[in-house]
Amino acid sequence: MPKPAKTERERLLRAARKAMKNAYAPFSNFHVGAAILTAKDHVFAGCNVENSSYGMTNCAERTAIFSAVAKDGPELEIRAVAVVASDKVSLGNDEPGVPCSPCGACRQVIYEFGPQAVIYYQGKKGPKQSLIADLLPEGFRLK
Ligand code: THU
Repeated sequence: MPKPAKTERERLLRAARKAMKNAYAPFSNFHVGAAILTAKDHVFAGCNVENSSYGMTNCAERTAIFSAVAKDGPELEIRAVAVVASDKVSLGNDEPGVPCSPCGACRQVIYEFGPQAVIYYQGKKGPKQSLIADLLPEGFRLK
């Protein structure tokens, strides 16, 4: 699968920032948006959705991926993922720029559909890009 072009990366980041505005995060105030680029060149976005029963929270990345499967079907192949976050409390606004790499659970879900996916996210020292295989060494897959 070809490496995403700069324009595709920017498209993903835009979609992630837009989705972040819809985050339901009244408990953490940590607003996250994610967008995935599929092998069909479709983009799906998602935000985190928290719950009073905290463990029921769904991360932005998994929201985007599950929405892609629901719309395009189970043959989903993920080429790239963009993640953006904002800490509404410390920033006092909804500007992205807070470091956030995909959590362990989301890394496993990304790996299922995109073992070669590229991940764009904000690191502690600025924007970063990593392969999912480096973020999740020896990821688990049954197929
Ligand atoms: N969160 C995500 O949506 N994605 C991540 O990669 C890290 C964490 C969400 C879950 C929860 O709603 C909030 O961020 C704080 O953990």
